[in-house]
Amino acid sequence: MGGELIIRGGRPLNGTVRIPAAKNSILPLLAATLLCDGPVTFEDVPALTDVENSLALLRGVGCGVSSRAGRVRICTPRRALSVLPEGPARAMRSSVFYLAPLLHRAGAVTMPLPGGCRIGARPIDIHLDGLAAMGARVELRGGGLTLKAPPEGLHGVDWKMRLPSVGATETLLMAAVRARGVTVLRGAACEPEIEDLARFLGKCGALICGAGTPTIWVQGVRALSGTSYTPIPDRITASTLAGAVAGCGGRLELENCRPDQMAPMLALLKRAGCQIESRDKGLVIRRQGSLSGGGTVYTGGYPAFATDAAPVAAAAFLRAEGETRFCDRVFENRFSCAEDFARLGADVRREGCCLVIRGVKELRGCALRARDLRGGAALVTAALCAEGESRIFGVEHIRRGYEDIAELYGRLGADIEWAGW
Ligand code: EPZ
Repeated sequence: MGGELIIRGGRPLNGTVRIPAAKNSILPLLAATLLCDGPVTFEDVPALTDVENSLALLRGVGCGVSSRAGRVRICTPRRALSVLPEGPARAMRSSVFYLAPLLHRAGAVTMPLPGGCRIGARPIDIHLDGLAAMGARVELRGGGLTLKAPPEGLHGVDWKMRLPSVGATETLLMAAVRARGVTVLRGAACEPEIEDLARFLGKCGALICGAGTPTIWVQGVRALSGTSYTPIPDRITASTLAGAVAGCGGRLELENCRPDQMAPMLALLKRAGCQIESRDKGLVIRRQGSLSGGGTVYTGGYPAFATDAAPVAAAAFLRAEGETRFCDRVFENRFSCAEDFARLGADVRREGCCLVIRGVKELRGCALRARDLRGGAALVTAALCAEGESRIFGVEHIRRGYEDIAELYGRLGADIEWAGW
């Protein structure tokens, strides 16, 4: 795969895609294997750079790791090493998921502050405050941090989260399942990926009730077994493809996806003129004729419109007839792709946390730069909708969350290829 994408847009998308396992499920799940005494096997794992970095972190703390054709097997040592390898840990936000499991598996954890998409400040105070409340000692120094568990291990806590952070809910759930006593997490996030993590931990013997609701109860247990597990499908990849066919026109069948987990996105596209039929374990989405403006969309915590889907949905509406407004109250800089939309000839403007789009008749291909994962995917959709050739740089952002995106869209009739390098 090269260093940039070349796209010659203006073609409809047609075909069938099987949606892989969710990136935002498999990343906490891989960290959670450190809580399990037996081997864990995951199926359907997508080939993403964030997954590669996660496997590097697990190897770095002493786990046995094998990965072939979407099947990943992890064997955790009785005692893991406590220092996370700097490179992979800095490369993504998901290194934060190793704090809780290593406090149980190594009694301590040292790591740099996590990296990830620059869509906002993204502090980790809610993770750290919760772990401290469970007995961890937190030391922040330089660009990193060290946490130490008490000799007797973490203890349960009745804890109200400052805000419903997805990652912090997953961190505190992983801390609670092996802590002494009962934990109650109040004001928890409700995303499907949290339920997926709880379902996996339950299969390993954890005692959890209420995952997927704002209050989660956990009875800590002394040990967790291994298991085999297939994560839920990626609702954001499915939303990305739905947005692409809405923007370009054509007909896509999405297999192995959960329409119920992407309901606000589907409702928006239906309102704007797409035909959508739910199928057994999937859906068919068609757009013939023009797309009308989608009105105002507010993102929020599940089951509201997913913040990750907002940029890729916005790209679909750049040529709609009318106005569409996406307001994201989750991250300070969710629409980094707006400047590049404008370079393509789109009529877009920022108004506070909103991106306001007035559909134009035509977009013209040009050079574009991805600045984060979902913004990069949105630029691919916009370039597919534009006349002429576009070159997208910064493709490393896109590779974090999508397997070979050129192969994916190429199979559906797009004129797209890797270049450079
Ligand atoms: C997860 O990030 C996802 N990443 C994100 O997907 C997703 O956008 C986000 O949840 C919201 O749904 C993974 O699951 C790997 P948050 P996370 O903690 O956990 C603030 C993608 O493109 N906050 O719910 O980091 C934070 O700054 C990625 O796949 C604190 O202030 O999101 C943000 O404004 C991008 N302190 C808000 O909460 C904290 O300790 C929501 O963040 C934690 C978060």
